[in-house]
Amino acid sequence: MRRIPLARLILGAALGGLLAASSARAADDTKLPKVEWSFSGPFGTYDLASAQRGFLIYQQVCSNCHSMNQLYYRNLEGIGLSEEQIKAIAASVQVPGGVDDNGQPIQRPGRPADHFRAPFPNDQAARAANGGALPPDQSVLELAREGGADYLYALMVGYSDPPADMKMQPGMMYNRFFPGHQIAMPQPLQDGSVQYTDGTKPTLEQEAKDVVTFLAWAAEPEMVERKQMGVKIILFLLLLTGLTYAVKRKLWSDVH
Ligand code: HEC
Repeated sequence: MRRIPLARLILGAALGGLLAASSARAADDTKLPKVEWSFSGPFGTYDLASAQRGFLIYQQVCSNCHSMNQLYYRNLEGIGLSEEQIKAIAASVQVPGGVDDNGQPIQRPGRPADHFRAPFPNDQAARAANGGALPPDQSVLELAREGGADYLYALMVGYSDPPADMKMQPGMMYNRFFPGHQIAMPQPLQDGSVQYTDGTKPTLEQEAKDVVTFLAWAAEPEMVERKQMGVKIILFLLLLTGLTYAVKRKLWSDVH
């Protein structure tokens, strides 16, 4: 048996300790960053300016690969866009418009009553254009992923070069928040990916926050009403409790 010199053993143990510490740190790296969302908490509402900027990002970036099949252009009223703005947005895309006299499929400009235009005619085409991976529909993505808005935000800001010891599959990108860390989606947002018209600076973090606010609204447009209803119900119950108590006091006032 070969004897291992003591110095080597000590060095090995020290290195082992270091490795364990660094892998613990790597695990900690996957903790989702905390973001202050306008829509969290019982009184939260959507920051509409942010949702509008987020729609711009969806329109210019995400919609090249991701559909949002459950949304109609007219729904954009919900983030405060005017009828005129919605008409213009819908008209800026071409949607399938039935067939012409020769039976050939034709395209026409979109209308507010149309679904958001999907980037691909079907899932096979979407996969073929994305190295075999399917960009999921974004209609309710914010509710469909564990971690919700925090996870989507983290995913947008979580790209980097892979650690030296990680073997990447061909065509995959490293993202420390994606399960398994290898994602087929190229980093969609960088500083300056869009130009905001309201003077907001388009940093990566700002863009991520805005697009996630938009996706959160899309997944649950009636959240604000639901929360307001909850508050009204609680107020009503408090009032009812007070009244019941007053009635009870009155009824029993001469019973000793
Ligand atoms: C070039 C095409 C492309 C663009 C542009 C794109 N994505 Fe993706 N996206 C994909 C593909 C492909 C996947 C599937 C990745 C996989 O399964 O590895 C995906 C997956 C996702 C997922 C799901 C991750 C998960 O946990 O399963 C989210 C969220 C997402 N994209 C958000 C966005 C947002 C937000 C934008 C716009 C800022 C965007 N994507 C732009 C191609 C794209």
